[in-house]
Amino acid sequence: MKQQVRKAIFPVAGLGTRFLPATKAQPKEMLPVVDKPLIQYAVEEAYAAGIREMIFVTGRHKRPIEDHFDMAYELEHQMEEAGKHEMLKVVRSVKPDDMECVFVRQPKSLGLGHAVLCGEKLARGEPFAVLLADDLMVGEPPVLKQMVEVFNEWRASVLAVQEVPEEHTKRYGIVAGSLVNDSLMEVTAIVEKPAPEKAPSRWGVAGRYILTPGVFDEIRNQPKGVGGEIQLTDGIAGLMRREKVFAFKYKGKRYDCGSKEGFLEANVELALTHPQLGEWFRGYLKSLNV
Ligand code: UTP
Repeated sequence: MKQQVRKAIFPVAGLGTRFLPATKAQPKEMLPVVDKPLIQYAVEEAYAAGIREMIFVTGRHKRPIEDHFDMAYELEHQMEEAGKHEMLKVVRSVKPDDMECVFVRQPKSLGLGHAVLCGEKLARGEPFAVLLADDLMVGEPPVLKQMVEVFNEWRASVLAVQEVPEEHTKRYGIVAGSLVNDSLMEVTAIVEKPAPEKAPSRWGVAGRYILTPGVFDEIRNQPKGVGGEIQLTDGIAGLMRREKVFAFKYKGKRYDCGSKEGFLEANVELALTHPQLGEWFRGYLKSLNV
């Protein structure tokens, strides 16, 4: 695989049931952490990794995401007139001029694998990243950038993994394989949500992937998996039989913002490091004496 990673797929068509009622009429990817929607964090991470073509796989209630990355003509006009240049910069920075956003619809929530497959035509046979925006990643360099570096070295699919506590193996796809070094494994199997005693390692898959286009055929040929859904994991397991696939232990922190607990943690921790709000927020938390 000689090509660069230039495209990213953002599957944003899930139902977000764990976050009801907030997600009844809006996608969970539009939930704000401090002052930015989740999807914007993910798009910024992809941009920082050198990616310029953002492919959104949308479902019902897709409008807010499309609108967010579109030009807000009236808003910009009003800010220009009022001389609110700083605010105008903030609004315009959501979509830099050299970034392209395309939208494709997943007609039914048939699973993450199916959502990724909806981006096949737009990926045009190139390697691509997949970012699940409800996994908010904080890392320096940004996590996807770390992964692109691994891809550039090994020219094969890369799955982001993190070390998970033994009692949490049940929540993740856990990888098995042979270690290349402390942070890289050549994967031979992914075991879905194993009990701690059955887990082949403690490396759990997080919501960032770089995949070669061969994965599309594999997804297409999978029978429906757990819960009648077409799983991405099954497609990747198929790919492993044909090509090398690596698991990369990224440096950084992941917040599971698809769950209320993870979402609250992200809000508190990102507010504490926010350049304008951090100091005030720290004082406020201290004043609560909880
Ligand atoms: P989740 O497993 O978190 O499912 O999907 P969900 O429906 O979004 O949320 P819950 O579990 O009901 O609360 C992981 C990612 O895959 C996308 C979701 O948008 C999310 O980013 N997805 C999932 C799709 O785009 N389409 C699907 O059919 C399923």
